[in-house]
Amino acid sequence: MDTGIRTDRIEKVREIVSGLLERIPDSEFRNEGYVHMFGVAQACVLLAMIREEDVELAACAGYLHDIATYMTGDSIEHARRGAEMAAGILQETGLFEDKEIEKICSAIRCHSDKKMTHGPLEEILKDADVMQHCLYDPGYVSKKEKDRYKKLRKELGIKK
Ligand SMILES: [Fe+2]
Repeated sequence: MDTGIRTDRIEKVREIVSGLLERIPDSEFRNEGYVHMFGVAQACVLLAMIREEDVELAACAGYLHDIATYMTGDSIEHARRGAEMAAGILQETGLFEDKEIEKICSAIRCHSDKKMTHGPLEEILKDADVMQHCLYDPGYVSKKEKDRYKKLRKELGIKK
């Protein structure tokens, strides 16, 4: 079935992120990187489909969102640093317009501000980040993710 969604750019970004994660020497941290970044990208796709937003940009934001944490092993200011790194990576592909890069990087830049509400793509990334954490460990929801998780469950039709 042709969904009409362009996937070549998603594939390119996934390939680049995969190559970067491959360089992480610690196998546990490397695996965590794959599980989290790839999981968030897939949650981004699902939420973008449900909310009728740009699936391709959402997927790319998901794949890149924690790139600063996984590349440097340091999560301090990782959203801002990650947005800068992502802009460089996306520009280098030559596949994205400046406007698209700005949208993806804005989502990455804002994704740690879970208590605030931003635009549709920013919110998709924040919710996808929460969703991956909660799907990975359904037995635990952190305090800072509780409210979003509750709203998400409602949106997804999870009754209890
Ligand atoms: Fe994350």
